Amino acid sequence: MNKLILSLALVSTTVFGLDLQRGERKYKEVCANCHHQGLDGRTGFPNLAGQNPSYITNQLFAFQKGTRKHRPMEEISKTMSREEIMDVAFYLSTLGCKK
Ligand code: HEC
Repeated sequence: MNKLILSLALVSTTVFGLDLQRGERKYKEVCANCHHQGLDGRTGFPNLAGQNPSYITNQLFAFQKGTRKHRPMEEISKTMSREEIMDVAFYLSTLGCKK
């Protein structure tokens, strides 16, 4: 399964120009402060590792538009470009779920 996700991610990297390293950097710089460096979430901060990339992107777009309400996430998502959102989502999806 992980191999499948990884090869999908590699294909996506080539086809759609996604950048896993850029996604990892963004996660570690910004998101890990709340969602945890170990990517397993903490009380009140959902686990993001191994999450479906379309789920992550949809949630971030919803925070951006304000259709999903959460002040900090709305503000953070508004600082992100479409590419950054997709990079982070792909990075997270390549990691095994920790729970
Ligand atoms: C200030 C703390 C904080 C930071 C920084 C932060 N988040 Fe969040 N995030 C949260 C909280 C709290 C929630 C839960 C919101 C809720 O209850 O609706 C959340 C929810 C989410 C969700 C929805 C998860 C789900 O299960 O529905 C996603 C996706 C997400 N964050 C991605 C990110 C990404 C990507 C970054 C970095 C670019 C990031 N977050 C940075 C606090 C943070």
